[in-house]
Amino acid sequence: MKHPPLNKLAIFASGTGTNAQKIIDHFRDRQDVSISLIISNKSEAGIMKIAAAENIPALVIDKEKFFRGNAYIDELRSKGINLIVLAGFLWKIPSALINAYPEKIINIHPALLPKYGGKGMYGHFVHDAVIASGDLETGITIHLVDEIYDHGRNIFQAVVPVEKHDTADSIAKKVQVLEHQYYPPVIDSLLQKASSASHA
Ligand code: GRF
Repeated sequence: MKHPPLNKLAIFASGTGTNAQKIIDHFRDRQDVSISLIISNKSEAGIMKIAAAENIPALVIDKEKFFRGNAYIDELRSKGINLIVLAGFLWKIPSALINAYPEKIINIHPALLPKYGGKGMYGHFVHDAVIASGDLETGITIHLVDEIYDHGRNIFQAVVPVEKHDTADSIAKKVQVLEHQYYPPVIDSLLQKASSASHA
């Protein structure tokens, strides 16, 4: 008899979903991990098309329920979700959800936190700020999510140089390469560590 997967992931995303797609691809043939739910705050987001194409159950968030109701904890628990992966999710995660999934919610940010994080720091706003600063490098940060935007403990960073000819667009492209390269394996190694800790 086939065992149910040990790890069930939910991906929260607001946008195109290129990172979500890489994560889905990475775990596609795995028996021990399934992407069991996709949650978005936008019904028209690219991520919803990916969910449909990949046959992954998807939910569009009701704002009231997310921030003042049960924050979808019942839905996540009933599907057995044990890790929440934010991949371009623009809303703050409510405390109720953070408390229900302590150290089990991770995010990727397109800069080297603690620089260029916080509310309103997403997409080109981040890369514009990097260019304006004159910094010689930028990169990605994968971190745990706590109650402050872009603040939880760092799990992983990777760096790219900022060169003289770089623009916000060219930096966005370089950073996206890093995101696609590293987010799936970093999630994977986190799951492996958690599973070896639980068997220790
Ligand atoms: C990525 O740059 C990620 O770092 C940020 O949101 C963006 C999502 O892009 N948190 P995509 O929708 O995965 O293409």
